[in-house]
Amino acid sequence: MRGRLTAVPLFLGLALLAAPAAQAMDPMAVMADACAGCHGTDGASLGAMPPFNTKSADELKKLLREYKSGVREATVMDRIVKGYTDPQLDGMIDYYKKK
Ligand code: HEC
Repeated sequence: MRGRLTAVPLFLGLALLAAPAAQAMDPMAVMADACAGCHGTDGASLGAMPPFNTKSADELKKLLREYKSGVREATVMDRIVKGYTDPQLDGMIDYYKKK
């Protein structure tokens, strides 16, 4: 019991130490991480998921807007894009294009 009680403040202390490192990360990198699971870490996915490296940034941004408005049919992207603002979507595409 005693061991468990001392472990909690220790954990909180470590979490506070780690916080500044997390803040220093590019916020767009954190957001774009959500896409990497399907599209590959550098946007160069293999297999069924469309890669980002075969189309221009403008084309990709246009596709995302079309998924959002419902003009373009999709299996998953129509739902995913609704969770982001247009500037966030553009930022993620720019992030992958920079890599
Ligand atoms: C669950 C897997 C999954 C995740 C996560 C995901 N995508 Fe997709 N993406 C797809 C699939 C599948 C398609 C093909 C369209 C469809 O069926 O929805 C696609 C299509 C696209 C396209 C069009 C590419 C082309 O050449 O036609 C873009 C751009 C895109 N996704 C961007 C993103 C971005 C940005 C994120 C992160 C916010 C993301 N995707 C997250 C699965 C995913």
